[in-house]
Amino acid sequence: MEPKQSLFILIPTLIVLIFLFGCDTELRKTDAQLGLNPQQSAGRKVYDDYCDRCHEPYSTRGKKGPGLKGIYKKPFFPASGMPANDDRMTDVIRYGREKMPGFGQVLSQQQINDLIAYLHTL
Ligand code: HEC
Repeated sequence: MEPKQSLFILIPTLIVLIFLFGCDTELRKTDAQLGLNPQQSAGRKVYDDYCDRCHEPYSTRGKKGPGLKGIYKKPFFPASGMPANDDRMTDVIRYGREKMPGFGQVLSQQQINDLIAYLHTL
């Protein structure tokens, strides 16, 4: 192939790659990079398994539910306006909300505690 011709392939390919990998996907940080203690990283695993499919942890952008970045930094939860504290959080996790399933049958109290410890780091 002529060198010039190959540019016609190379440049569009690069543009596609930049779109696929450059724009929206941030690299996942390791637990160490996030400075998580053992309980918080146990909670992150729970989060990945049960919450991540509906909630962004490091963005306020909505997925199926609201993004949870800084969830404890505001005084009230985004959907219900309930005070942002561990008791209310435990209720949300156990019983769910309108379009959010409850996890009271799935998660142990220990897992919920670990999860909440992680949520405090967001
Ligand atoms: C199937 C999708 C789905 C899953 C899985 C899910 N959520 Fe939700 N979540 C939602 C939706 C939808 C809302 C908004 C509910 C509403 O409008 O009342 C929400 C709301 C919330 C809120 C805000 C509640 C409020 O009172 O404003 C918190 C906090 C939350 N979820 C945490 C979690 C955690 C922690 C997990 C993992 C155990 C989780 N969610 C799993 C869909 C989900």
